Amino acid sequence: MLAEGFGLRLMKPEEAAIFSDLEITERTYPWSKESFLDTLRSDTSRPLVWEGADGIIGFGVVQVVEGEAYLLNIMILPRHRRQGRGRELLSMIFDWAKSRGAERLFLDVEQTNSPALKLYEAAGLDVVGRRPHSYPGGEDSIMMKKDL
Ligand SMILES: CC(C)(COP(=O)(O)OP(=O)(O)OC[C@H]1O[C@@H](n2cnc3c(N)ncnc32)[C@H](O)[C@@H]1OP(=O)(O)O)[C@@H](O)C(=O)NCCC(=O)NCCS
Repeated sequence: MLAEGFGLRLMKPEEAAIFSDLEITERTYPWSKESFLDTLRSDTSRPLVWEGADGIIGFGVVQVVEGEAYLLNIMILPRHRRQGRGRELLSMIFDWAKSRGAERLFLDVEQTNSPALKLYEAAGLDVVGRRPHSYPGGEDSIMMKKDL
């Protein structure tokens, strides 16, 4: 899926600014351009872009280490939301992580991010922990897991 055609592909360095601009408008704790570029340089993390016929639909950043995947970030562009795209992107990410040898996927989500929490529940992730006051604003972080 990372080669050519539609589906997941690796983020291009020049796209990092597009995603960090989106982060500023769409997230409470936005990733910087440098955060995206760091994942591109990393040995274990991959920033994956989902592109369709009309352009970019969303992205996900995944780390895989010793059979465990960690979803570091995910976004569906605003105009594509509430059409099942988040669920579809997650499913592609599960397949991608599995193809990289991951048997489980974990993620952390702010307790206040109810669209994301609902999406993850709908996609079969289970709550496995809570880190109190994990975010700068004092929100708890909810840890979720799915066996792949
Ligand atoms: C979270 C996010 C990825 C969801 O993407 P999406 O394409 O809108 O999600 P889907 O259309 O696949 O929704 C799947 C399910 O999630 C839930 N859901 C998604 N968005 C929701 C919302 N705004 N309010 C309530 N439930 C929501 C619903 O249960 C939905 O199923 P339904 O539409 O059949 O009711 C998207 O809102 C987003 O990019 N948010 C900003 C970035 C972000 O917060 N990322 C999460 C980081 S932890």
